[in-house]
Amino acid sequence: MKRTKLNHRSSRPLAAATVFGALALAAAPMVLAGAPDSAESCLGCHGSDGISSDPDTPTISGASDFFLENQLFLFQSEERPCVADLFAQVDDAPAADHCALVADWSEDTIVEVAAHYAEQPFQPADQSWDEAQAQAGAAIHDEGCARCHADGGSDPADDAGILAGQWQPYLVRTMTDYREGARFQPVTMEREMQALSDEDIQALAAYYASQGQ
Ligand code: HEC
Ligand code: HEC
Repeated sequence: MKRTKLNHRSSRPLAAATVFGALALAAAPMVLAGAPDSAESCLGCHGSDGISSDPDTPTISGASDFFLENQLFLFQSEERPCVADLFAQVDDAPAADHCALVADWSEDTIVEVAAHYAEQPFQPADQSWDEAQAQAGAAIHDEGCARCHADGGSDPADDAGILAGQWQPYLVRTMTDYREGARFQPVTMEREMQALSDEDIQALAAYYASQGQ
């Protein structure tokens, strides 16, 4: 089983990486030009530049390379749900599920693909949200989540994904997975997740949607 290096922080300056990514994009008519070949199999679901138009599929661009690497290692070791049901809904899905998709990847490939998406700019999902829920979610976030998910969950340097502007249906599903212990998580986050009701989870998702605009 691959170890997830949760306490490691990337030493690469994020700002420099972002500028470099923007230049690479500007120079290339095809968004995927320069991307590792393995990234080809991601397009159908995560969008050509990692910006998903499907509410069940997260946008992966702009999150930190360290966070993205970890997720791919977690799929490899099946420490997060493999979402075979969602793969079954996609025509010509490149594998039976997300774990199988990356099962044979070397560490180098994982690092390369993660770096590619980390360099693409994040773009908030085009979605509406319930304002009363968002306000209720803000209070829960400030109390239990803000210390690790800074600036409304928008800072990639947290190495904890980008929550602000992420699709609500994905957030609801994955927070429920966390609460039920179905997805690997830091022990200190687990305590916060287990305390959440379904209503709290909806409220948090609305809050993160509101932070992305
Ligand atoms: C058939 C659709 C599909 C394909 C193909 C696919 N993904 Fe995914 N991906 C998903 C879904 C759905 C999720 C959310 C899983 C969950 O709910 O836990 C996801 C989650 C992820 C995550 C975690 C994001 C987060 O914020 O936690 C990463 C990273 C990721 N995919 C990378 C990739 C890469 C790299 C490829 C290409 C090699 C790829 N995916 C191909 C559907 C797909
Ligand atoms: C002790 C720090 C900590 C606390 C507190 C915490 N989180 Fe997290 N969170 C993390 C880390 C670290 C990750 C990334 C885990 C990984 O690499 O798999 C994460 C991941 C997530 C993700 C997955 C993002 C994605 O793109 O898939 C969601 C959603 C999330 N947290 C929501 C919350 C909410 C809601 C709260 C409060 C109720 C919370 N977290 C509290 C550290 C924390």
